[in-house]
Amino acid sequence: MKKRNLAAGLLACIWVASVQADPGADVYTKGGANPAALACLTCHGADGMGMAAAGFPRLAGLSAEYMKKQLLDFQSGSRAHPVMLPIASALTEGEMQSVSLYIEQMTTPVYPRINRSAEATSVGERLALRGAWERNIPECVACHGPGGVGVGAAFPPLAGQSSAYLSSQLIAWKRGTRTNDPNDLMGHIAKSLTDDEVKAVSDYFSGLGQ
Ligand code: HEC
Ligand code: HEC
Repeated sequence: MKKRNLAAGLLACIWVASVQADPGADVYTKGGANPAALACLTCHGADGMGMAAAGFPRLAGLSAEYMKKQLLDFQSGSRAHPVMLPIASALTEGEMQSVSLYIEQMTTPVYPRINRSAEATSVGERLALRGAWERNIPECVACHGPGGVGVGAAFPPLAGQSSAYLSSQLIAWKRGTRTNDPNDLMGHIAKSLTDDEVKAVSDYFSGLGQ
């Protein structure tokens, strides 16, 4: 009996040690040292898949480098947002780094890799797979990858995000409240899209995640 208690105690110690060994997990589930750095889990979900209805994007599947850049951009205001500004501002640089690395390890669903040779009939499909070159709009998959699954550290996934979130970002670029993209790549594209096109292409990519 005693032996068993000892074994259970040891296991508990190992468990506690392994949980404490990842400072990124702590920030994600409990928040940063500064109380204003709220726990990410509250809004982005335990699985990192966000909460579409509330406008909280999924983070699982984003690269650590992209996420850290976004946190710094929220802090500097080149990506203006009333909720993420105080949270990002309250995180230390070390916390940003560790929480981004922690989120990068989360598992994500696999999305279909539809490339530009696929059939494209609707407005959303045509923009995503063919672009509108007469208006200098490249196809989204050229940068965001087949099916919008994301490419490397710089090009985030679009598949798996809600249509409302994707539209909100395109509108932010149109209005100039998000100006954090390198070389105005997205600013130029968003400003060239009509409101109907914003909705159509957002519906297309969010639909791939279902
Ligand atoms: C109170 C809710 C809330 C909490 C808590 C929260 N977020 Fe957010 N987060 C949001 C919202 C809303 C957005 C969308 C911002 C926008 O529309 O630009 C967002 C966006 C983001 C993005 C950008 C995602 C993308 O695809 O570009 C990152 C990165 C992020 N949050 C990281 C974090 C981290 C890390 C934490 C914990 C330290 C955290 N968030 C806590 C609400 C929250
Ligand atoms: C020339 C390359 C390029 C093309 C083409 C492109 N994008 Fe992007 N997109 C980017 C980059 C780079 C970012 C990340 C900017 C940053 O660092 O915040 C981005 C980010 C986004 C985001 C924000 C995602 C998030 O998680 O917040 C959305 C939405 C988006 N793009 C939609 C589109 C759509 C729709 C199209 C096609 C009409 C498109 N993009 C075509 C380069 C591109």
